[in-house]
This record gives sequence, C-alpha cells and structure tokens, in this order.
Amino acid sequence: GSYELGDHPDFMHKEIREQPAAIARVLAGRLDERAATTRLDGLGLEPRHWQRVRRVTFLGCGSAYYAAEYGAQLVEDLARIPARAEPSSEYRYRNAVVDPDALYVAVSQSGETLDTLAAIRELKRRGAPVVGAVNVVGSSIANECDGGIFLHAGPEQSVAATKSFTNMGLAFALLAVQLGRLRDLSLAQGARLLSGLRRFPDEVEAALKTDDQITELAARFRDCSHMFFVGRVRGWPIAREGAQKLKEVSYVHAEAYPAAELKHGPLALVTPAMPTIAVVPDDELLPKNLATLTEIRSRGGPVVAVTNADLPPDAADEVVRVGRCEPELDPLVLSVPLQLFAYRMARALGREVDRPRNLAKSVTVE
Ligand code: G6P
Repeated sequence: GSYELGDHPDFMHKEIREQPAAIARVLAGRLDERAATTRLDGLGLEPRHWQRVRRVTFLGCGSAYYAAEYGAQLVEDLARIPARAEPSSEYRYRNAVVDPDALYVAVSQSGETLDTLAAIRELKRRGAPVVGAVNVVGSSIANECDGGIFLHAGPEQSVAATKSFTNMGLAFALLAVQLGRLRDLSLAQGARLLSGLRRFPDEVEAALKTDDQITELAARFRDCSHMFFVGRVRGWPIAREGAQKLKEVSYVHAEAYPAAELKHGPLALVTPAMPTIAVVPDDELLPKNLATLTEIRSRGGPVVAVTNADLPPDAADEVVRVGRCEPELDPLVLSVPLQLFAYRMARALGREVDRPRNLAKSVTVE
C-alpha cells in the first residue's frame, strides 16, 4: 500500500520521488481543454459567485502558507483579483476586516492544524465563505469548509511537506486559471497554461535527475552553519520554502530574502562562509537576478543558481539546471532541487529526516 516505504530509505525520499504521480492526480479531471479552462467542481461555487469574487485571501501555516503566497501571486496575475496570503495564526488575532464578497481559502495538508481551523471558524462566524485546499479527505478542515479543492497528494508521512507543497501550488494554478478565464484571461493564455500543466509531471520527473549533483553539493556544504535563499516575485515563496525545508530537516540555519532586499541589510553577512542558493527562473526578472548574483559573488559569497535559464558562464559558482514549463509554473519546478538539497544535507549530517526534533507533522494545539 501507499504507506509502505518500498525501496526508499525514508518517507521524505519516497514523497519527493513520487511527485510526478501525485501531480497527475491533482490535475486529473480538472483540465477542460475545449474551453481552455480548469474546473474545480468541489468548490461548489455557482458561476455567479465566481464572477462576484472581489478578493482572495489564502490562510495557512508553514509550507501551506508559503504555497499560499505563490498562489496569491498567481491569482492576481492571471485573474487580476487582489489576493494575499497570511499565516492563519496571525489572521485570527488581528481583527481583520472580513469581506463577504471575498473568497477565503484555507490551506492545509493534514486538515487538522488548529490555527487554521480557528481562523475558519472566526470567518464563518462573520458570514464569509471559506473553501479548503486540503490533502486529507475527511479531516476537520475539509469538513468545516463550504467546499474545496482536494490536493490528492496521497499520504504524507515525513514531517517536512514536499509533495503536498507542490500539489498546493498546482491547485492554486488551477484556481487562478478558472478565476482568470471568467474574467480577462484569454483563450490563448488559458490554452498555454493548460499545456504547461499537462507537461508539468514530466518536468518534475526531469528535475528529480538533479539528485546526484545535489548530493555532491550537500557533501560540499555540509559544514556550513548558515545559508541564504534568495528569489524574486514568484521565486520568493519558493526560496522561503527552500530555506524552511533546510532548517526543518538538516538544522542548518537558513534565511530567505527577497533578492533585491539583500542590499538593505543582510548583504553585510555575505562572506565565503555564507553560501547563497538563488532561485532564478527564466523570466523577465532574469537580468535583475543576475545582478544580485554578481553583487553576492563580488563580496566573496559562494552562489548556487537553481535555474531553468541559460546563464552566462561565471554567473554562479554552481548551476543546477532544470527544464522549462511555463513562466507561471516554473518556480514550482525549481522547488524540487531545493527539496532534494534539504534532504541530502540532512542525510549528509546524519539527521533523522522523517522526524526532526521539536516538530510535529500536524500541530493541533496553539
Ligand atoms: C507543521 C508541519 C509543517 C506544515 C505545517 C502546516 O508545522 O511540520 O510541515 O507545513 O504544520 O500543516 P498543514 O497540515 O496545515 O499543512
């Protein structure tokens, strides 16, 4: 059954590896080729309601919150609806203005995270519609939401989220396309994104082949005590998740920063002992990202670029290369080598990867 390890040394390895199949499941039956749109029937929203949505607010914790940051950007970008993501724990305590014409999306792998559940209850008490983006069917969050998008990642055993993070990102791409196609997203753009979604499992399969290179990198960096993760715009939540993963499973201190903000403080920390992992998608921000890499390298900081672009020689000390899908989706592919990096660092340091100290898979207390 799916709870078995099979040939894998641990669940984190298994769950990273099984992503292509998990991705195929979150997409299955949700791509409407004829209308060049997506259909999330489980949301239970009438077309009328879809058109009325004035803003989208995503709420989650940990990796679910970082995935939500990526999702909020996709919704703004593709549907032109103001969207944001917030940690559920913050939301429930700050007496936010609740808008009945907003769509609230509660994001959770387990469906049991107490902070998220409490935020949902507060929203519902104030009359707002809340849908879920949840992996575990029959969980408390799935049951309490008005409808939702099941992530279909399959059981996730390792404390560190991997396949559930990727499937959250894809669920939000589906949501953004559906909302977008009811507004200004053209047929051609819808078709382009659908074709990217169809190719996505293969792109992730290919990205998994960076594992040997990543294993060597981990051997080289295993004695580092600190690392930076940088990214811009859609690459930024991916950098945050990459740093989080490294902290969780390897206990190496990692700090994620929006690339352009480095110069406003943290650049002071750059030395040969402080490597940077840079998320560098092949998008309109490539020249800006290259400038950041130069900035870091000229201060002696080693740089690993995780990219799907053709970088000029000397842009980075090491380039981890994956394939291209579509610009909106590419950052999620770049997240795969970052998962592998956290995993290989943890293994190189002899950590118990599936059960990191002090952490729980799902936090059902405050
Ligand atoms: C815990 C886990 C994290 C996870 C977070 C949210 O802190 O250790 O990996 O991202 O909870 O969990 P959820 O089940 O709500 O996605």
